[in-house]
Amino acid sequence: MPHRVDVLLHNIGTLVTPLGNHPRGGNAMKDIQVMEQAAVAIAGGRIAVVGTEEEVRNALQSAGSEIVTSVDAGGRLVTPGLVDPHTHLVHGGSREHELALKRSGVPYLEILAMGGGILSTVTATRKATEDELYTKALKSLNEMMLQGVTTIEAKSGYGLTVDDELKQLRVARRLHEAHPLDLVSTFMGAHAVPPEYKGREDEFVDLIVNEMLPRVTDEGLAEFCDVFCEQGVFSVEQSRRILMEGKRNGLIPKIHADEIVSLGGAQLAGEVGAISAEHLLAASDEGLAEMANAGVIPVLLPGTSFNLGLIQHARARDMIDKYELPVALSTDYNPGSSPTESMQLIISLASLNLKMTPEEILTACTINAANALGRGFEIGTIEAGKAADLAIFDAPNLAYLPYHFGINHTFGVIKSGRVVVW
Ligand code: NIG
Ligand code: FE
Repeated sequence: MPHRVDVLLHNIGTLVTPLGNHPRGGNAMKDIQVMEQAAVAIAGGRIAVVGTEEEVRNALQSAGSEIVTSVDAGGRLVTPGLVDPHTHLVHGGSREHELALKRSGVPYLEILAMGGGILSTVTATRKATEDELYTKALKSLNEMMLQGVTTIEAKSGYGLTVDDELKQLRVARRLHEAHPLDLVSTFMGAHAVPPEYKGREDEFVDLIVNEMLPRVTDEGLAEFCDVFCEQGVFSVEQSRRILMEGKRNGLIPKIHADEIVSLGGAQLAGEVGAISAEHLLAASDEGLAEMANAGVIPVLLPGTSFNLGLIQHARARDMIDKYELPVALSTDYNPGSSPTESMQLIISLASLNLKMTPEEILTACTINAANALGRGFEIGTIEAGKAADLAIFDAPNLAYLPYHFGINHTFGVIKSGRVVVW
């Protein structure tokens, strides 16, 4: 018990949290702790004690702990700080000029093949200075924090030259250092083939492997390596090569898999030992079984199917019920397929379109998402010893979050023990 408690968050109406450090799959996703009239004592940026308010106060009193600041949660709902494990945070420009094209029914991959889509963001990102990218990303990061998010992942992939990829990753590093939120970086040089390599795709893969990857690791700019494995983008063979080379450079594989066409990305995720596979709308049963075998976390992105107007959604129920996979959820924030920073919108879409229960959704946005970033030991639950990352929602219970949609329920955010939103 600490002598000095920096913050006592008390008068919590309902505290909800998964328990443990590991990814929770199948039925265990529903199994969360719900505590009424709770309190959390924070010391040195970490959770010192959690329990009913009576238990916590008794424990502090018998230890003679001094309470520096008391924060009244006003009877509201408290969850672990949300974790957004898949974003394309740093990029230039926006793509509303493609809205009419999209609405007239031109498919996502066709817009890309026409040189638009991701490639239009590549042009804008190459043009932008590091400071311009920083200012734009900072605005989005603040928006995410206001949603109750305390840790995010951020990918490169809109530079597609050595310098422009490093530029994006440096912006993410600067934001991580300057902003209360934690950013975890992923190198995604294999996001699209840039126009100057059209018809010479394998040479672009050579550039990624021989020049980009070593620079990224030399400068310690990323922990993960991701590939857009998709028809007309990177093949399974090219993806395998990049992810294996990434591994050799110390980067843990992630993969945009089976989003539009069932190419076998989910199987590849299992084969290369990816920490997570993302999207998976078109994943086959063999692919899901392989992921379950290999312990790959499916990161589902319901904002993408919503925004692309698809009737097809990722098979979350099969993943949870049949394959006992530990599903995680994310915004996939990017300027094309999912232009939203709102984890709370994702929470509502996960309920509506993925048919996940509020308890499963909480697990998916906290401990499973934390594990998709290799941080389950540090964040993702409200338990003594973990980082004091908490979200306070103006909601009477957990089900209210997905149910009452389209507004921001956040009342406060505590990051590493510091009140950053109130
Ligand atoms: O995760 N699918 C590939 N990459 C992103 C979209 C990027 C973009 O459209 O700018 C995604 O959906
Ligand atoms: Fe993505």
